[in-house]
Amino acid sequence: MDRPVRTKVKDLLHSEPGQKVLAKGWVRTKRGNKQVKFIALNDGSTVNNIQIVVNTELFDENLLSQITTGASIAVCGHLVASVGSGQAVEIQAEEIELYGTCDPVRYPIQKKDTSLEYLRTVAHMRLRTNTFGAVLRIRHAMAFAIHKFFNDKGFVYLNTPLITESDAEGAGDMFQVTTMDLANIPMHGGKVDFSKDFFGKKTSLTVSGQLEGELGATAVGEIYTFGPTFRAENSNTPRHLAEFWMIEPEMAFYDIQDDMDLAEEFVKYLVQYALDNCMDDLSFLNDKYDNGLIERLRSVLGIEFRRVTYTEGIEILEEAVRGGHQFEYPVHWGTDLQSEHERYLVETHFQRPVILTDFPKDIKAFYMKLNDDGKTVRGMDVLFPKIGEIIGGSEREASLEKLEGRIDELGMSRKNLEWYIDTRRYGTVPHSGFGLGFERLLLFVTGMSNIRDVIPFPRTPKNAEF
Ligand code: 4AD
Ligand code: MG
Repeated sequence: MDRPVRTKVKDLLHSEPGQKVLAKGWVRTKRGNKQVKFIALNDGSTVNNIQIVVNTELFDENLLSQITTGASIAVCGHLVASVGSGQAVEIQAEEIELYGTCDPVRYPIQKKDTSLEYLRTVAHMRLRTNTFGAVLRIRHAMAFAIHKFFNDKGFVYLNTPLITESDAEGAGDMFQVTTMDLANIPMHGGKVDFSKDFFGKKTSLTVSGQLEGELGATAVGEIYTFGPTFRAENSNTPRHLAEFWMIEPEMAFYDIQDDMDLAEEFVKYLVQYALDNCMDDLSFLNDKYDNGLIERLRSVLGIEFRRVTYTEGIEILEEAVRGGHQFEYPVHWGTDLQSEHERYLVETHFQRPVILTDFPKDIKAFYMKLNDDGKTVRGMDVLFPKIGEIIGGSEREASLEKLEGRIDELGMSRKNLEWYIDTRRYGTVPHSGFGLGFERLLLFVTGMSNIRDVIPFPRTPKNAEF
């Protein structure tokens, strides 16, 4: 068979008519009449299909009858200017090879039910839909852009351990890692004998690479991590995953202002990158799910994020309550803000992304730099429309005495943190960092409203399929 090399659909759609081409992919739809059939073929390279025009006289009836939604085929033919609307070019089929049939009755991805809720129940197949194709391509583009952003700035990509003994955030939401036989746990003096465990001590999956990231930053200056993170929070919300990906830059010689500047530049860069490189997918998602998506993406680019302290934020929220606004959760100085509060500040009050700073020390982790008031710490959260918190970060406590003071105050073990405290003991420097939740970013960029729909294989309480 004299066949040209395969061209991806994405490229075929922008190719000059006249040439002989080979396309391979999965059938999205087949329609037509006795004389001519139109097959919409998709190979995952783009949300758009290439139309295949089939003169039924040239092909075996049996073959054509097996070409149903979901079947996989190769098509060879001439690329011609399309007479129909909707596409510039189409393929006039000369040869068709059927790779795999697809039972039209049993195939779980049917046109008639593509609700996101339904698709979650057939999550192993949902990647084949236009929606998940778009999400996966955007997810990839964002991952690439993240590496590019930091590489262009000279940051070093640091791989921090997934198995660790430290609970960086101090929230205790850790998944334990053990090879001990749970039906027969070794005990010593009434307690679990972790010396018998694989690592000879109690270990867990990491909740953050930050503390190890600080070791890197105080060695090579500027690092970032980008990897999976695990939290056993029992929060079944559209914004929480038990396994999510986080990007954590950590920078020596950055104060909180530098930290906020970098965070703002970073998210704007990513949103701009998506607009520049993912427009087909964004347009599809905009039309299908959220007709304010592209507008909202553009809206965060042209403006400065509003920077306010936590205390100012609380005053605004209390004022709103006095004015009759009802929140589900109470709000007063000292409480952690809920997503409804964050969204009120962003969407209603300031109508732009907000960076909240200087939180009460009791609601933040031990490593944040203590302010002179002794009550607040130099943390910063970036809050986004529709999402709430997308980034959490801080300037770190650089003083050995103050850091040890906080560790003691919180009843944490200094002994387990000696390795971390050494960064303050030997050549300590002012330094800062933050963590961007990759899936939170993707919620914003894709306009999806449930975090389970921006990660291919979500892990949430009572759900760890595949
Ligand atoms: O605010 P967090 O807990 O901060 C840290 O982990 C710091 N160590 C970061 C740093 O300073 N290096 O988490 C950072 C971000 C949040 O803003 C949110 O976007 C995301 O991680 N995140 C989650 N995303 C999905 N599911 C969850 N359960 C998440 N928990 C946090
Ligand atoms: Mg946070």
